[in-house]
Amino acid sequence: MPIAPLLAKIDQERLRDLRAQYGTLPSDSPGLWRHYAKYLDVEKHMRQNVGRAQDLDLHRQPRQRILDLGCGGGFFLFVTQSLGHDGLGLDVAGIPIFDSLVEMLRVDRRICKITGFEPLPELDGKFDLVTAFATAFQGGREDSWRWGAAEWDFLLTDLKRQLNPGGRIFFELNAAYGGQYYTPQILEVFLKHGGVMERERVLFTKESARG
Ligand SMILES: C[S@@+](CC[C@H](N)C(=O)[O-])C[C@H]1O[C@@H](n2cnc3c(N)ncnc32)[C@H](O)[C@@H]1O
Repeated sequence: MPIAPLLAKIDQERLRDLRAQYGTLPSDSPGLWRHYAKYLDVEKHMRQNVGRAQDLDLHRQPRQRILDLGCGGGFFLFVTQSLGHDGLGLDVAGIPIFDSLVEMLRVDRRICKITGFEPLPELDGKFDLVTAFATAFQGGREDSWRWGAAEWDFLLTDLKRQLNPGGRIFFELNAAYGGQYYTPQILEVFLKHGGVMERERVLFTKESARG
C-alpha cells in the first residue's frame, strides 16, 4: 500500500506550523510533550500505521467499525479511514501535539481516560475491531504503578462486550513490566481470554476463550 497518496492528503502548511510550534519545545515544558514531538515525523508514522493496518488485513476487509484505545495523533485511524473503515479513537486530552495532529488528520476522537476497573463509556454501538498500539494506560516506565492481572481481566471482559460477533481485539504492548510485555499472571489472563501472543502483540476474538 503506497503512502504517497496518504501524505498528499495532509495540509502541508498546517504541518509546517505544527513543526514550528512543537518541534523544539523549551526544556521546561513537560517531558512527555517533548517525547511525543517524534510524532511530527508524519512520513515515519504513516508508514508504521500502514504496516499495522495491513498486518490486521484491513486492506482486504469490508467496512469495519474500529475503536483505537490511546489513539495518540490518530495515524492508525487516518490510514484505516483511507481504506474505507469507520474509526473512533479514545485518549486523554491536553497533549498539544496529539490534539493538533488529531485535528489535522480529521479523525474522530473521544476524550476518555482508560482507568483500571472502570468500564468504557457507552460508545454508540459495537465495534468489529478494538486496537491499542504502544499502550500506556497500564502504566509505563515513568509511573510508580502498573496494572495487574485483575485490571487486564476487567478490560478484556469489558472490551468483548463492545464487540460485534466475530470481532477482534488487538494489543501492541509497551514493555511496562521491568522490560517485559506482561507478567506470568497477566499472561494467564490473556490465555483465559483466548489470546494469541507473539512478542508484544496479542490478538483476541469476541468468542475466544480457553476451552
Ligand atoms: C505511546 S502513545 C501511542 C499512541 C498511538 N497509539 C501510536 O501508536 O501512535 C500512548 C498513548 O496512550 C495515551 N494514554 C495514556 N494513558 C491513557 C489512558 N489512561 N487512557 C487513554 N489513553 C491513554 C497517551 O495519551 C498516548 O496517546
